[in-house]
Amino acid sequence: MKTKMVSPSILASDFCHLERDIQMLNSSQCDWIHLDVMDGVFVPNVSFGFPVMQAVARVASKPLDVHLMMVYPEKFLHNIKAIGAHSVSVHQEACPHLHRVIGQIKEAGMKAGVALNPATPLYTLEEIICDVDMVMLMSVNPGFGGQRFIPQSIDKTRRLRRMIEESGSHALIEIDGGVSRANAAELYDAGADILVAGSAIFNASDPQAEIEVLKS
Ligand code: DX5
Ligand code: ZN
Repeated sequence: MKTKMVSPSILASDFCHLERDIQMLNSSQCDWIHLDVMDGVFVPNVSFGFPVMQAVARVASKPLDVHLMMVYPEKFLHNIKAIGAHSVSVHQEACPHLHRVIGQIKEAGMKAGVALNPATPLYTLEEIICDVDMVMLMSVNPGFGGQRFIPQSIDKTRRLRRMIEESGSHALIEIDGGVSRANAAELYDAGADILVAGSAIFNASDPQAEIEVLKS
């Protein structure tokens, strides 16, 4: 059976108690910790930058899964490498030289992911699918936590799984946005490997138990 992984997004954590929330994730069954970086240009919001990510990295004992919602992500790969990130995902829509950026991420020794907005078709991955370690399908329009899951994402996940199998790619499928216990099982069944969840975890009365629900 395929492993079911969960990557909680700290965008929904309590930034006044960030250390407490990271320790909670450290002692949970989560697999990675998801860091959402927003630039106010590619997405209509700003989240946090490197000082916060450095602080998270000092406390976190799980691999850091960085999601760059920004233009020119290549300018910041050395900062992300410096915090010891495990994986970095950049947006297809933000990278005219996607092949180069994916190569730069791998050369820096990190896993390279490509993220697709809900309206971006899968065929835009045809020429890169065998070079990436991960494809992140956005199941909301990026920029905000707590949005409603876009139901077509389930079929898109299924089609991406087929595309990966047919191409011989080893990319993992990560789904990001509006993920909760209401859609987790369907997403894994459709072929997802990793589910990102922010509000579903941090708004739960028992976040660690919610992570277990999402993995089960
Ligand atoms: C959206 C971010 C997501 C978000 C997920 O722009 O990329 O990672 O934080 O949050 P929820 O699970 O609340 O949709
Ligand atoms: Zn994200």
